[in-house]
Amino acid sequence: MKKPFVYITRSLPDEQVKQLSEIAIVEMWEKEEEPCPRNVLLEKAKQADALLTMLSDQVDQELLNAAENLKVISNLAVGYDNIDLKYASSKDIIVCNTPDVLTDTTADLAFALLMAAARRVVEAADYIKEGKWKGWSPLQLAGIDLHHKTIGIVGMGKIGSAVAKRAKGFDMKVLYHNRSRNEEAEQAVHAEYLDLEDLLAQSDFVVCLTPLTEQTKELFTYDRFKQMKRTAIFVNVSRGAVVIEGDLLRALEEGMIAGAGLDVFVKEPIEADHPLLKLQSVTALPHIGSATGETRRKMMDLCCKNIALVLKGDKPYTQVQLKAGKR
Ligand code: GLV
Ligand code: GLV
Repeated sequence: MKKPFVYITRSLPDEQVKQLSEIAIVEMWEKEEEPCPRNVLLEKAKQADALLTMLSDQVDQELLNAAENLKVISNLAVGYDNIDLKYASSKDIIVCNTPDVLTDTTADLAFALLMAAARRVVEAADYIKEGKWKGWSPLQLAGIDLHHKTIGIVGMGKIGSAVAKRAKGFDMKVLYHNRSRNEEAEQAVHAEYLDLEDLLAQSDFVVCLTPLTEQTKELFTYDRFKQMKRTAIFVNVSRGAVVIEGDLLRALEEGMIAGAGLDVFVKEPIEADHPLLKLQSVTALPHIGSATGETRRKMMDLCCKNIALVLKGDKPYTQVQLKAGKR
């Protein structure tokens, strides 16, 4: 029998894809740092039984129409806004993501960003390395406290709950907003559910962890930033497009909020001369939420396992389910 063909859109370590090489013909885009060009992806998709994709690959109708043999798309991310799930489902193509294995790692990073923004860690690290430190002084690089403050989590899924747990360790009061109530988080960390407007008004730190959907796209507008405290820090570890970046820039420039910690951007990679990156009040990271060696290996492993299961005719571990009314 002809072996199935699996295309992987980025160079991954051979030992990570071994389980697939044993059952399929596996080809990879040869570069680790650069995305697979669209024309290559389209060409490979035509023959592929399975695709292992990155969040930077657009799996849209054009691609899905070209992919006549495709049975499964395994996305190396928990988010899957890069995939037209509805259209894939209409073609009986299974979509898989990598939840759970990255939850704590991503929560750690969200908290690191929160702390870095509050305590000006990146600015201070640059300060000493650039030889600007001429001596200790009382208010030098003074930031703001996290402990005993209020954190407002927008998007209380697994990662949001894991951030709440960390916040509890810092004696923070935890507020949250979500599509639906999260009773588990309410019990485990005494998180209090609020509507978005009240959450924004009461939080010292607003942390966005919601998936990008039609409902959350451009959720954070100038008016939303205006509803926040002028001392508030906004942290985004979900997707850039939940924010109107021009509005965030304006809110920061006008002092409507005090700062931002951003791991994600509307266009990735963001241009180095983007005005947001010029602001001292912005702590920016290049989308590294789940980036630890351990977790990335677990994610690759899960992606490969899911593909192998589907190719054998079994149910994958972590299939994305199409919910009514949702993308
Ligand atoms: C990263 O952003 C992910 O969705 O896993
Ligand atoms: C991730 O698994 C989430 O639901 O936030």
